[in-house]
Amino acid sequence: MKISLYPSGIKDWDGSVLILGIFQEKIEEQLNEIETSWKNSLLRRLKEQDFNAKKGEIATFQILNGSPNKLILVGLGAPKNLLIDDLRKATALGARANLGNPGQLGISFPWELFDPSAAAKAVGEAIRLTLFKDLRFRNKPDPSLKPEIVQLIGVPTSAEKSIEFISPICSGVELARELVGAPPNFLTPAKLAETASSIAKNHNLESTILEEEECLSRGMGAYLAVAKGSDLNPKFIHLTYKPKGEVRRRIAIVGKGLTFDSGGYNLKVGAAQIELMKFDMGGSASVLGAARAIGEINPKGTEVHFIVAACENMINGSAVHPGDIVSASNGKTIEINNTDAEGRLTLADALVYACDLKPDAIVDLATLTGACVIALGDEIAGLWTKSDQLANELISAANLSGEGLWRMPLKSSYKEGLKSMLADIKNTGPRGGGAITAGLFLQEFVDEKISWAHIDIAGPVWTEKDRGIDPAGATGYGVRTLVNWICSQSEQKITV
Ligand code: BES
Ligand code: MN
Ligand code: ZN
Repeated sequence: MKISLYPSGIKDWDGSVLILGIFQEKIEEQLNEIETSWKNSLLRRLKEQDFNAKKGEIATFQILNGSPNKLILVGLGAPKNLLIDDLRKATALGARANLGNPGQLGISFPWELFDPSAAAKAVGEAIRLTLFKDLRFRNKPDPSLKPEIVQLIGVPTSAEKSIEFISPICSGVELARELVGAPPNFLTPAKLAETASSIAKNHNLESTILEEEECLSRGMGAYLAVAKGSDLNPKFIHLTYKPKGEVRRRIAIVGKGLTFDSGGYNLKVGAAQIELMKFDMGGSASVLGAARAIGEINPKGTEVHFIVAACENMINGSAVHPGDIVSASNGKTIEINNTDAEGRLTLADALVYACDLKPDAIVDLATLTGACVIALGDEIAGLWTKSDQLANELISAANLSGEGLWRMPLKSSYKEGLKSMLADIKNTGPRGGGAITAGLFLQEFVDEKISWAHIDIAGPVWTEKDRGIDPAGATGYGVRTLVNWICSQSEQKITV
């Protein structure tokens, strides 16, 4: 799918399918701009269908004699209430009304109400991500025809630069969706590591994969405690992006990489939806998706480390017992009072490793707690950090990408709940505030001098139904926020 600008107006455009954003009360005026010969009959039809151009309304017409031959009107409501995110939603609605149509697609929206670069990038990403379909696991996949050419009609040429980000970012999101959507017998820790190495090879990143022995000699007792209940070997993944020229900033992003989370001996039962726990490597998928995108974008000035301690949480004769005490690579001892709080154990050692690289900032992404889903639902991830600056940077990157992110408190008195009778800390606290104590647990493994943020993506990693630009299933949440954030630190600014 090639997404490009068509700066001259809609009158000259001669593709086959047109998605046209329509404002309430301005229907007639806007239709005048495209055609006069059938405008009156179209207006009559719209009345019959009770189309008022409210947000979320759509009307589709086949036109027998002319270009376009399919017209999709999507309501945008009133101009003063319109947000860029409404353009994303309108794009998704229009794109779904055109599924399976390979014809050249044009999209005409009121770009001038926004920074056209930001609006065009948002809509370009939206069209590609809405039409993504994972066809890997069917013998006879339905041919998923997509428009080869998509033109954003009326966007000024000044937006050309921001359009260049669409393809690398969407390839990163699609990779993340494929990783998360893949079943756990296919996407094993080894497969995740192989994928990481091939991203590194294809996009000029350095790649290091640590095997179990090496992790052992680094003292990663928390991570390895989780891994040892599985027949599959753990793989510790570290990719590095080194920019050409001067390095002014170094950052590390760390992703939870549980290719399956059974819960261990605290087995997931009842309503816990164990069969969905293939998505427990969602954090690592965003990290690798971002790695792919950054390797392609090549932002200047920032060195980026991508880190994943990948393994499975399973049950066998050598699996962790609830009650075991292990020690992490920073020497802290942990009483594992619940084997289902495994993500934080793997992250503990991954964070210590990240700190050893002496970065200016660390961000981790993890499908860490059901409690975060209860608090924020499946459209918003939780953000924990002591740094107001890092919080603001990440929230603006998320806003720019249309991903929901909400700052939550790192209430230090709740550390009380993690006190162990025997060890330095235990891995779970009380039920109430469970997403907060998870964050506080992670904080114990981060050097205080490094600014650090934790993002709990347990909700938005997955959607049961088509939702906005996300088809049902894996969303690839986090890639766009990470890439926008990383690029906002470099000279290669994405428009805000
Ligand atoms: N991977 C889960 C978190 C999760 C749960 C993500 C539901 C998405 C949906 C994590 O490893 C986990 O099991 N967390 C426990 C922690 C508890 C034992 C303190 C949880 O949230 O129930
Ligand atoms: Mn768990
Ligand atoms: Zn988990």
